[in-house]
Amino acid sequence: MSQPPSPRPGPHARAWVERDAKVVSHSYTRTYPLVVQRASGLTVEDVDGHHYLDFTSGLGTNLLGHCHPDVVKAIQDQAAALIHMSGTDFYYPAQIRLAEELAKRCPGDEPKQVFFSNSGAEAIEAAIKLARYHTKRPYLIAFYGGFHGRTLGALSLSASKVVHRRGFGPLLAGVFHAPYGDVDFIERELFAHVVAPDEVAAVVVEPIQGEGGYVVPPAGFLRRLREVCTRHGILLVVDEVQSGMGRTGKFLACEHEGIVPDIVALSKGLAAGMPLGATIAPTRVMTWPAGAHANTFGGHPISCETALVALRHLDGGLIARAAQTGDRLMGALKRSADRSPSIGEVRGKGLMVGVEILKDRARKTPAPEARNRIIQRCFEKGLLLVGAGKHVVRFLPALVVTDQQIDQAVALFTDAVMEVDRELPHAA
Ligand SMILES: Cc1ncc(COP(=O)(O)O)c(C=O)c1O
Repeated sequence: MSQPPSPRPGPHARAWVERDAKVVSHSYTRTYPLVVQRASGLTVEDVDGHHYLDFTSGLGTNLLGHCHPDVVKAIQDQAAALIHMSGTDFYYPAQIRLAEELAKRCPGDEPKQVFFSNSGAEAIEAAIKLARYHTKRPYLIAFYGGFHGRTLGALSLSASKVVHRRGFGPLLAGVFHAPYGDVDFIERELFAHVVAPDEVAAVVVEPIQGEGGYVVPPAGFLRRLREVCTRHGILLVVDEVQSGMGRTGKFLACEHEGIVPDIVALSKGLAAGMPLGATIAPTRVMTWPAGAHANTFGGHPISCETALVALRHLDGGLIARAAQTGDRLMGALKRSADRSPSIGEVRGKGLMVGVEILKDRARKTPAPEARNRIIQRCFEKGLLLVGAGKHVVRFLPALVVTDQQIDQAVALFTDAVMEVDRELPHAA
């Protein structure tokens, strides 16, 4: 990549960051000063003309890469025909066609229905309300390390970082948390001491924890959770906001365990970079009446059209490709772990891969400072990554990533890790 001589960030980026600090909410989590001008595929260009290889896919949203021509065309065509009308008050074909496609693809033979919104948090919010409405039960169970969004309902389920919750209490009453992966805890502790199972509306779970640190639960966890929920008439809600849409090498990550959830929440990659949330449930469960839940912009025609494009690409072999390139990414990162004492576990599925950064591999001591420095160093080298949990680096490139881009990203990352190893010698 040809690069201008100025260091990253360049002068224009610095000026924008200064302006931003005066007028944009300081609650956002910017890890490094990337100010984007344009992007195409996996390449992002900043306002100073520097190029970057994007292994964040805009936080998992640009499933087909930035500005994929089919996505751009779908946006242009739909914008020229109809920008918005509100699918909660009127009908338009894009929303209906997308609901049909999503209902068809979610596991289980029962007929299903889709509630549309604009974001992951809203998709979860709808799941919470639907579960309470349908079961007429008040309580909810979620997991430590889980992240489900930041609206007050979704936030009440989230338990990954205290900063997300601090200062916003009291949160939704009646939410209980269990250690991720531990179904026995729910039966042995929660059901014995805290909450009667027949008062629990739903268990909400990420098939792989995202924000909490790219944590893969033990094999069989979702299947056991499914059994417990079925036994007690509890709805099993899978939050596939980050792990869905082919990212892990299946359409939904919960399909790796072959389970049929009661409610599925999708967002992020769903509309290939446009805002959209979807909450999908069997018709038997989606029993709420007209007026019970709705929103003005959910199921926006342009987002529905780009989601249909994304689904067509998934059908065209992109899911299998994500599984293959994911194996390559995982293999290459595991090999770089052999070269640095600070790389711990490399984990994930498909193109949802996390790398632990540790102070002491034997003791598994997390190294958040080194993790942050590695991500910063990658930015300076032209590779975009973000963190997860307190000491994990996440790799979630667009599903169209090539082998060559994977090799390039892992090489840049490994260089950055080894530089930081020399600066912060902490390995045992
Ligand atoms: C698993 C999961 N659920 C929900 C959300 C919330 O999505 P949004 O930021 O679109 O509200 C996220 C966002 O990172 C997520 O990873």
